Amino acid sequence: MFHQPNSEDLQFFESLLGNRCKSDLETREAYNHDHTEDLHFTPHVVLLPETTEEVSKILAYCHLNHIAVTPAGARTGLSGGCLPIYGGVLLSSEKLNRIIEIDEKNAQVLTEPGVITEELQNAVRAKGLFYPPDPASKGSCFIGGNIAENSGGPKAVKYGVTKDYVLNLEVVLADGTIMWTGANVLKNATGYNLTQLIVGSEGTLAFVTKIVLKLIPHPTQTMLMLAPFFDAQMACEAVASIFNAGITPSGMEFMEKNALQWSQSFTGDYSIEVKETHAAHLLIEVDGFDAEQLMSECESILNVLERFETDEILFAESEAQKNTLWSLRSKVGEAVKVQSIYKEEDTVVPRYELPKLLKTVKEIGAKYGFESVCYGHAGDGNLHVNIIKGTLSDEFWNEQLSVAIRELFSAVVAMGGTISGEHGIGLVQKPYMDLAFSPEGLNLMRGIKRIFDPKGILNPGKVC
Ligand code: LAC
Ligand code: ZN
Repeated sequence: MFHQPNSEDLQFFESLLGNRCKSDLETREAYNHDHTEDLHFTPHVVLLPETTEEVSKILAYCHLNHIAVTPAGARTGLSGGCLPIYGGVLLSSEKLNRIIEIDEKNAQVLTEPGVITEELQNAVRAKGLFYPPDPASKGSCFIGGNIAENSGGPKAVKYGVTKDYVLNLEVVLADGTIMWTGANVLKNATGYNLTQLIVGSEGTLAFVTKIVLKLIPHPTQTMLMLAPFFDAQMACEAVASIFNAGITPSGMEFMEKNALQWSQSFTGDYSIEVKETHAAHLLIEVDGFDAEQLMSECESILNVLERFETDEILFAESEAQKNTLWSLRSKVGEAVKVQSIYKEEDTVVPRYELPKLLKTVKEIGAKYGFESVCYGHAGDGNLHVNIIKGTLSDEFWNEQLSVAIRELFSAVVAMGGTISGEHGIGLVQKPYMDLAFSPEGLNLMRGIKRIFDPKGILNPGKVC
């Protein structure tokens, strides 16, 4: 169906990129996976362009010759979005790694896609500016990948997700055309919103080569508390009550007991006591510019929490302790990975439905006989449901589990939610897209794809 690069094609790529065209097996295998389960697909060649013009020439050539091109960033994704399932070209953004300009006058940054998100955050932080979206992998993921997946993270609950900061994109279309999608402005009512169509399109519509992001003033103060609950359901119920009391925390994270304990054993950090009776925790942060204001928000949160059954609430006393708590939270995903084979579902429901979502996950688990470890961005109604293989048979895992997942996703959609909050659809959630969209909706998406990429060479086999 696709033409696989042969020696003539490799010669073309080498003439363009020199030793940034890698066709040795070792490199190809190094790029054959992301962080999604244990999936591996080896590309025929890995290309590492340094300029937009190189990206354009690669895509024009692949378009002409019908070669599959899978865009990839740091390959930390959790839905298999950058897996080259048809082989072909793996088009990496890692050499497009310059922060081009921090425009302090307009509070914007112009960057290339291969910049590590945390490095971008630190660079703008040095100018007093804030780029809030902070996926758990922020120390290794690329900003380009965040745009592809419309990544979130803990701060999304107050500050929004990646899409809320993307003002304009330079993209290369499947046939090599270079264009900007919008303008570097905070308001834009000019035609269809091509910028936002590209955000979250998982490399299926275009390859992003430059990004203009909005920035905001960096808050100067944070306060962080860890609230243990004897009942996980109760922890979920407390979440909406806090928002409904008029407070918008800058972090509202939920962790079941196993999630926190596994993270402790993964990090080796046992400085926080987790009792066996602590079924779940909420990690709650408030931020701003005025310590007194934050203190009063914390008091309001405590007043709400009094109505729920919590054990003693821990207030982080130092920056070091805040870092410990955030690190325990952000390492949960990796900690689950080393415990067992697992499948992660990125469910999201309207916030008030969160308790019902947790209950449903556990009921479906009991029905099909699987254990799950749940954690995530409770304030967004976004629960990462990690289904643990443990001692389940391969037969169940390979054949029955998808039935259980369909049941879970159907329930999520019935609650007004959807099947991915921030990890994307990529490869592994694609079989469930019919639950999230009507046939008409899916046809519309496929039509959009055909207009952008008539030959279907860009990240084939993903999303819809
Ligand atoms: C997290 C990632 C898995 O929230 O989204 O830790
Ligand atoms: Zn997450």
